[in-house]
Formats: sequence, C-alpha cells, structure tokens
Amino acid sequence: MTLHQATSHRTHILVINGPNLGLLGLREPEIYGRVSLEEIIGGLKYTATQVGAQITDTQSNHEGDLIDFLNENYLAHKSASPENHQFKVTGIIINPGALAHTSVGLRDALAMYDSDGVPIVEVHLSNTHRREAFRQKSFVSPVSSAIIIGMGATGYRLGLDWLLARKGN
Ligand code: DQA
Repeated sequence: MTLHQATSHRTHILVINGPNLGLLGLREPEIYGRVSLEEIIGGLKYTATQVGAQITDTQSNHEGDLIDFLNENYLAHKSASPENHQFKVTGIIINPGALAHTSVGLRDALAMYDSDGVPIVEVHLSNTHRREAFRQKSFVSPVSSAIIIGMGATGYRLGLDWLLARKGN
C-alpha cells in the first residue's frame, strides 16, 4: 500500500491563495516561476482524486473574501455530522501572498482551525527570508503547523503530500 492509498475518503483540504497569485506564471517569473495557479491547483486536485480526497480551493485579491471563505468553511466544519462528514476540514494549504505580512484578520480566521487541531501549511513560492525585510515577518506562521518557503510550485505538492500522510486522514 502506498502512502496515498492509505488515505480515507474523509480527507477535505482547503487550498487558499491570496493577492496577485492568480497571475502566477506571468507575474515576476524570475521570482515566482512560470507555472500558473491553474496548473498548480490542477495538479493538487489530480493527486487528491487519486486517493479519494477532496480539495476546495479559492484565490482572491481581497482580504475579506479569504476571511469569509475561511469562516463559511469553518461553520460547515463545526456542524459536520457523520452524515455530512465531507464538510469536515482536515487540512489547509495557504499561500497568503502579501497578506502574510499584514493581516491579523486572516491570522485570526486561521487560528480557529489551528485551535481545533486542523493542520495548516503556509506556503511561499519564493524564499521570503532572502528578500526585503518587510517580507520576513508572517502573521500566519504562528498559527501554522508547517511552513514551506522557497520551493516554488513544488511547495504546494509537498504540503499536500504531508497532509495526506498525516495520521488520522
Ligand atoms: C509570496 C511572498 C510574498 O511576500 C508576496 O507578497 C507574494 C508571494 C510567495 O509565494 O513567495 O505575493 O507569498
């Protein structure tokens, strides 16, 4: 049995991308690479389908939209019963983009999941620590279980592999 085959059908992962990440592939490719967000999400969904896991994804340039998405999914997560267990969130992959460095609101929305034991993987395509000083602080990191930075699009895939391999999924 492979790592992925061990995963049950109860796995539901939110994949969230913040401002400007909708233009991946076109946007400063020397920093963020040439892979589009569509390709990244497509790859993650393909892997998820193989193992019967579900991915719900969103990208927005608006902080409130991302917080609404997290709140709505949190309500569904909290009210999930054995009959509608597919709404239970078992993991989150988030590239907050610039909001990592600015948003207490986004951090607080993620903290609800963290306090319920839902693992959160913060992903940044670029190595933010070798860039401008303002990118070196992330409000999201303290509520994340794992952080993957500087691995480009591969970071998302590694994050998903890690979430799928976790016990309890
Ligand atoms: C980013 C890094 C952030 O500093 C930046 O604002 C982004 C992308 C990354 O993936 O490397 O939008 O999150």
